[in-house]
Amino acid sequence: MEHKAIMITGGAGFIGSHVVRLFTGKYPDCRILNVDKLTYAGNPANLKDVEDSPNYRFVRADICDFDTMLGLMESEHVDGIIHLAAESHVDRSIKDPFTFAKTNVMGTLSLLQAARQYWESLPERYDGKLFYHISTDEVYGALTLSHPEGTEPPFSTKASSGHHLAYGDTFFKETDKYSPHSPYSASKAAGDHFVRAFHDTYGLPSIVTNCSNNYGPYQFPEKLIPLFVNNILHRRPLPVYGRGENVRDWLYVEDHARAIDLIFHQGKIAETYNIGGFNEWKNIDIVRLLVKTTDRLLGRGDGEDMDLITFVKDRAGHDLRYAIDSTKLRDELGWEPSLQFEEGIEKTVKWYLDNQDWLADVTSGNYLRYYDEMYNRR
Ligand code: NAD
Ligand code: TYD
Repeated sequence: MEHKAIMITGGAGFIGSHVVRLFTGKYPDCRILNVDKLTYAGNPANLKDVEDSPNYRFVRADICDFDTMLGLMESEHVDGIIHLAAESHVDRSIKDPFTFAKTNVMGTLSLLQAARQYWESLPERYDGKLFYHISTDEVYGALTLSHPEGTEPPFSTKASSGHHLAYGDTFFKETDKYSPHSPYSASKAAGDHFVRAFHDTYGLPSIVTNCSNNYGPYQFPEKLIPLFVNNILHRRPLPVYGRGENVRDWLYVEDHARAIDLIFHQGKIAETYNIGGFNEWKNIDIVRLLVKTTDRLLGRGDGEDMDLITFVKDRAGHDLRYAIDSTKLRDELGWEPSLQFEEGIEKTVKWYLDNQDWLADVTSGNYLRYYDEMYNRR
């Protein structure tokens, strides 16, 4: 399915910026409209290198603003939407659930309703149109830690391709029931339900994907990996929640962007695809790997900063284990993660150390000046 104009929401955030970069470069004949409110998590500097591409346009707007969304879809003749805009940090959702419900539920509904109204007004209606909603594995709830008799975790599992090490013998599948625990995952789950309801009720062509934890360049340093690299750099404590026993399944962000491209162009309408790294790690092991890698790249002694690790009060309702089974995506569309975790972590730590100005601007709140530099000069 060839598209002429794709609206990407949340394109100034972490994953969105990688998706915008990929699509703008790969599809020069398609107009890419990045719609982002620029909350604390949105940083136009993430897209400095695509700013001047002729097929790219940035609009600062709130997805909750229905009239603006409809107006943009009409004036830009949008025929595809990739919806990433969201409040995305679990700890913030615990402090401020209202903002999460507003953006992740009402914002998604506002986009769905605008897409429906615009596309239904066209002679061809829904032909050649797609609303692609990006969601998270966290909607499925939490898995347990377990291991088959005679093995020690992490053990090798056949639930996936390659050498997949797992901390449990169950995995999230597309057919699993939703069971969100945090206000973040509850708000994402509600958004997902609305997308499916719009397909079933109005015939709006949609796809939902649920992805595991992403890591890589341009992630806001409130999330585990960039936060800890920044703290190691400045020799600040590394606050590990609980005992660091929680397990997450990590995927390099460019592999996620590649999956989004594939699914957007070849995925089946009304389907759900799980996207994961087949790559489970305990938090404490990641933290140790981060200390070793960062110290080495900074020319410090091997593991010199291990004593920065500080065990702190656990996150409320902290999900124990997430693990995705993305066999469906592999079997139906041929997608697989391209990077081993150690290789991805090396690239990622190196990127943050090479881009300390970006880190400093983001942590000081100075980054919105890029917005003024880029847009107010025009
Ligand atoms: P992020 O927090 O880095 O970026 C979110 C972007 O959305 C920001 O640019 C922000 O300005 C924008 N935004 C927020 N509220 C908005 C609103 N009301 N209107 C317009 N723009 C708004 O998030 P991320 O980590 O890049 O995640 C992107 C999407 O992927 C989210 O939907 C998230 O739920 C999902 N996801 C993330 C991960 C992960 O590990 N980061 C994993 C799976 C799924
Ligand atoms: P995070 O990056 O917030 O992603 P998510 O909560 O969406 O999985 O956290 C990843 C894991 O790291 C999670 O188990 C919580 C833990 N964590 C810490 O132990 N300390 C921290 O300071 C942060 C931000 C996260």
